[in-house]
Amino acid sequence: MKILLLENIHKVAKDLLEQEGYDVDLQPGALNEGDLIEAAKSYDCIGLRSKTQVTEKVLHANPHLFAVGAFCIGTNQIDTSSAARLGIPVFNAPYANTRSVAELVICEIIGLARKVFHLNRQAHKGQWQKSAKSSYEVRGKTLGIVGYGHIGSQVSVLAEAMGMNVIYYDIIKKLPLGNSTPVESLECLLAESDFVSLHVPATELTTNMIQTKELNLMRKGAYLINASRGSVVDIDALNTAISEKHLAGAAIDVFPVEPKNNEEIFQSPLQEQENVILTPHIGGSTEEAQENIGREVADAFIRFLKMGSTQASVNFPQADLPLKSGVTRMLNVHKNVPGVLSEINKIVASTGVNISSQYLATNTEIGYLIMDIENEGAKGFSDEIAKLPNSIKTRLL
Ligand code: NAI
Repeated sequence: MKILLLENIHKVAKDLLEQEGYDVDLQPGALNEGDLIEAAKSYDCIGLRSKTQVTEKVLHANPHLFAVGAFCIGTNQIDTSSAARLGIPVFNAPYANTRSVAELVICEIIGLARKVFHLNRQAHKGQWQKSAKSSYEVRGKTLGIVGYGHIGSQVSVLAEAMGMNVIYYDIIKKLPLGNSTPVESLECLLAESDFVSLHVPATELTTNMIQTKELNLMRKGAYLINASRGSVVDIDALNTAISEKHLAGAAIDVFPVEPKNNEEIFQSPLQEQENVILTPHIGGSTEEAQENIGREVADAFIRFLKMGSTQASVNFPQADLPLKSGVTRMLNVHKNVPGVLSEINKIVASTGVNISSQYLATNTEIGYLIMDIENEGAKGFSDEIAKLPNSIKTRLL
């Protein structure tokens, strides 16, 4: 197995894959479409971050690929549907930076309550503004978390450890951690919180979820934190709420429009506000998160290559069958059309193989079949399965 890792992927990924006996090439930069088409021909799997585009053209020129790894959170840079139709699972690391975001939010809660960032700016300019006025402890204050998923629930645990009361609102029922309490509605949460922290995905429901009406429902002197998605908060409405001193401050890490790179100038109406923390979408940007991503996607590759597990895949039916000794495992990806299984069963009968266990997972387009074969004949059986007109990819482990 030869694996190409592009775009400065954390070295831990190479180390882990090499420990499993794979041959790994690590390259610092991204590749353009033409170069990727050529490079991928010499590899069985490729890994990349957000800059390399894995287009339909790249995939069709390289249908032999076993897997593609997005060593990041998003997978927009990969044509995941084309990959699935070619029998290529795509893996990513959606939760590797969860703790990093949660820690930034905790930093911002105290930073806002004590005006740390504003006073720090002043001190750098020679202004000594020692005062206790409008500076608060966070102990005993109420934190309202909107979206009690991976990040929201981590923030909940950390905030309680600092003595905060935590309430949360989620559209689905979530198990409360520690002493946190769910509330019935967003409106209740806004009315009861000293700090509101948003941790929802970008969906139709969350677009401009926080605008003038919602800001007006918040307590006077409360703070708003958004490290989720830029579409969730109406920035102009927030700017007005702060100018009118209805809110005492805000911390914003994500914006409706963000610079495409570090050279582009960033502009926001909030830049004029004193107790507003603006960060360049760094919630998940830590060394630890990069290492976690390297580990998570390398591990997904290993589990797929060694066992056929697609549990961490974004475009494949999920299957995770433990490996048994004394059997040969066959993996088959096929078009999800009527009659495929009966064709497979006919081959089982005609070749006389003993199937020790089998698992089939499907989505609307493809079926993913794992079969553990007890006796000899696995190779002949797998060759016959591969020849079926609806088979996309067949592999013996
Ligand atoms: P998650 O999927 O684990 O949790 C999201 C939660 O929001 C779920 O419990 C869901 O039921 C809930 N939810 C969805 N719609 C809702 C609504 N209308 N009202 C209330 N709750 C709703 O996601 P995770 O990993 O916790 O991420 C949360 C957000 O943080 C995402 O938008 C993600 O893109 C963002 N994020 C930001 C980073 C940064 O650098 N600032 C880094 C990583 C994630």
